[in-house]
Amino acid sequence: MRVVTIASQKGGTGKSTLAINLGVQADRRDGPVAIVDCDEHRGLAQWRLQREAERPVVAELPEEGGIGAILEGCREAGARLVILDTPAGTPRPGSVIAQAIGAAHLVVMASKTGFLDIMAARPTAEAIAAARVPGAVVLNDVPARSAVVEGARTALAGYGLPVCPTAVVHRVGISYSLLTGQSLAEYDPRNPGVEEFKKVWSWLKGRLGHVAQHR
Ligand SMILES: Nc1ncnc2c1ncn2[C@@H]1O[C@H](COP(=O)(O)OP(=O)(O)O)[C@@H](O)[C@H]1O
Ligand SMILES: [Mg+2]
Repeated sequence: MRVVTIASQKGGTGKSTLAINLGVQADRRDGPVAIVDCDEHRGLAQWRLQREAERPVVAELPEEGGIGAILEGCREAGARLVILDTPAGTPRPGSVIAQAIGAAHLVVMASKTGFLDIMAARPTAEAIAAARVPGAVVLNDVPARSAVVEGARTALAGYGLPVCPTAVVHRVGISYSLLTGQSLAEYDPRNPGVEEFKKVWSWLKGRLGHVAQHR
């Protein structure tokens, strides 16, 4: 069982959106996935309530036992991949975010392209490095066909984490899909964003394979 944690200090960068869309892709392609809502706002759990499909499994972080207990439960239930969707905030030692980073085989930092987004990404990148856990950056909610994407990619690479060559473009279909408890692929299979999520997941799987060889 592999654990992928999605983290970023800033809210609204697309952590939960990535957890949902990568979770659905991974569940279709690579077997049972559990997405764990570690955010006390319980956005993912709310999304699950709107949803008809049974998979991927969506679990909430239990008050007792925390990350360790939920990972044990996922393992017993036969999950091949667990995606930990974390809240925004500083990964202080002992916090849920720090525990989720520490438990991961790979930490995916979601970031938008703005200057303030890139500045806010630094502490998360540092926390990933301090935990000695492999990390990667996925640019999300980016403008279509804009030079700012390349600029952001270069700036984020300066934090020492590989940046996914595919960025997820801003698409209103993503907002609509969430309203009905779906991923983009379920809501609008022909939306070009579906291909982006597929490419991002393939690339992250490559990073996970790399991890398997080195841990
Ligand atoms: N690529 C995108 N295109 C359009 N809307 C997006 C995209 N990514 C995220 N959003 C929207 O932005 C908001 C914040 O995303 P969310 O995944 O909740 O961020 P986080 O979990 O990091 O706080 C949500 O309303 C979501 O629907
Ligand atoms: Mg969220």
